[in-house]
Amino acid sequence: MADSPVIIRVSDAGKHAGESVVIRGWLYNLRRSGKIAFPLVRDGSGIIQCVAVKSSLPEQVFEQIKDLTQESSLTVTGKVRAEPRAPGGYEVDVEDCRVLQRVPESEPYPITPKDHGIDFLMDHRHLWLRSRRQHAIIRVRHQVIRAIRDYFDSNGFTLVDTPIFTPAACEGTTTLFEVDYFEGEKVYLTQSGQLYNEATAMAFGKTYCFGPTFRAEKSKTRRHLTEFWMVEPEMAYATIEDVKNVAEEMISFVVSRVLENCRPELAVLERDVSKLECVKAPFPRITYDDAVKILQKKGSEIQWGGDFGGTDETLICEEFDRPVMVDRYPTAVKAFYMQPDPERPEVALGVDVLAPEGHGEIVGGGQRIHDLDLLMSRIKENNLPPEAFNWYIDLRRYGSVPHGGFGMGIERCVGWLCGLEHVRETIAFPRMIYRTRP
Ligand code: 4AD
Ligand code: MG
Repeated sequence: MADSPVIIRVSDAGKHAGESVVIRGWLYNLRRSGKIAFPLVRDGSGIIQCVAVKSSLPEQVFEQIKDLTQESSLTVTGKVRAEPRAPGGYEVDVEDCRVLQRVPESEPYPITPKDHGIDFLMDHRHLWLRSRRQHAIIRVRHQVIRAIRDYFDSNGFTLVDTPIFTPAACEGTTTLFEVDYFEGEKVYLTQSGQLYNEATAMAFGKTYCFGPTFRAEKSKTRRHLTEFWMVEPEMAYATIEDVKNVAEEMISFVVSRVLENCRPELAVLERDVSKLECVKAPFPRITYDDAVKILQKKGSEIQWGGDFGGTDETLICEEFDRPVMVDRYPTAVKAFYMQPDPERPEVALGVDVLAPEGHGEIVGGGQRIHDLDLLMSRIKENNLPPEAFNWYIDLRRYGSVPHGGFGMGIERCVGWLCGLEHVRETIAFPRMIYRTRP
């Protein structure tokens, strides 16, 4: 008796040419012409065309296949055959088929190849993730995260995760989510792990944290989520120049990895990869002053001292074919912890990295204040409660050194790499001011 066919994933079909295999998946699409049916089966790892010929199958098997509905779950047994014209290079000649759950005609799968509006698709996000484009985006996201971790793990950084419930604001008090639970204390959802990273960097030299962060953003823009994932490295004995170099190296590494591992996904997304292929160090480096001049030349009303809005960022990054690093923003528009430039205290040693093609800021970071008195006065000026920062201030009492780091928003980065209009598609279940479901 022949061995029973092996269960494979579609992505491995090429290793099984000529063999009978079992594929466990869902019906992506179905074409029919009389005595032959072509079910397109997806299993999460890929999509493969199967060929069911009436004359070579038991009648009830063929009948079942030819009337299958979109997204019905099924297992197909069949022989893998090389087919140069097929998208993945292989097809399966159906020998048997078992339907686990047939989606009834009375309540068909809601997402069809026709154009649905974005609200409809977002309402059906739990199903939309099965679609080819969404699937590709999430796979790119996975590779981006893997590349980031590999980069830090192989460059001497220790992963130290930071808390989500925090008594202190890191990035200004206007975007804090308050949590009403802890007794006798105001607690918020973290905006950034940075303050804790500064403690861990003093313990380990180079650290990073990677987790969800929260911003009560009232702005409904294509770049803002209320819950997003951020990777944040922090280094002791580091200056703003060190921070820029690490950001440049990490971004170049992530891009090269995505180009290496995500070609099929980028093709599904119709991404112009030439725009990513030129993303190599060195990245252009300009100052805030230069950026203001660029904006004014382009007709913007911005005056020195103002922060950049999304439109300003778009105008700046359009000038460059790779990410541009903008440093030395006015101290007044930046967070309390930023080290003022000793030669020009009205600007801070902070840097933003703006992604090309209009994607705007993907990285924010810089050098932190390491002087005790200066930090205390900045906390006061910003009307922050000193009690909540006691431990943070301690770091300036016990072996303080120049240090710095940055944060990169995963969704902004993935949005850029995939060439998307809006960050909402870069996370499986986005959270925005007007969206908390599914
Ligand atoms: O520029 P931000 O606010 O910097 C910080 O939080 C620093 N404490 C990080 C650090 O130095 N360790 O945020 C960093 C990045 C931004 O450049 C952007 O990519 C992303 O986080 N980001 C958002 N992404 C999506 N939605 C939002 N509402 C975001 N806010 C920031
Ligand atoms: Mg920022």
